[in-house]
Amino acid sequence: MPLSEELKARITAEFPKYPERRAVLLTALHFIQEECGGWVSPDVVPELAELLGILPIDVEEVVSFYPMYHPDRVGRFHVQVCTNIACCIRGARGVVRRLEEQLDVLSGEVTEDGLFSIGEVECLGSCGTAPVLMVNNERFVENVSADDVPGLVERLRARAAGGGANGSNGAGGGR
Ligand code: FES
Repeated sequence: MPLSEELKARITAEFPKYPERRAVLLTALHFIQEECGGWVSPDVVPELAELLGILPIDVEEVVSFYPMYHPDRVGRFHVQVCTNIACCIRGARGVVRRLEEQLDVLSGEVTEDGLFSIGEVECLGSCGTAPVLMVNNERFVENVSADDVPGLVERLRARAAGGGANGSNGAGGGR
């Protein structure tokens, strides 16, 4: 799917704010994820690169490096669990397993209804409150346990049923 004219206009409107076009890349990727289902499809990469005067590989490197960008399709609620050392020691693997059971998909997959996906990320920078997960690049759920997963999923389902946008993840706090 090509970038829409509206999206291109939104990106080019950012150019005057930066010393060079390539510096708009991070912002442009956020715009794309906001307007294109939460991920950066490979289809849009060449067009974005051309718009910014860079190579497609420059875009791909950034998308694959930062956990806030998603090179694969994600659910409306993308639940990312930190599985780095501090979180693993305190039960992150159990949180991932409970999510997989609860949502009936494996980590890296999207539920059939498109509502949820599960991801695993490296350190989210909140090791003191491990284990930590994040929904849609927004508020962290800290000190989370496997037993917190059903409540979290229920709150997100309720949010989706209420027609809420992705702007607030409805994740609520951990313990
Ligand atoms: S190891 Fe999980 S937040 Fe640092």
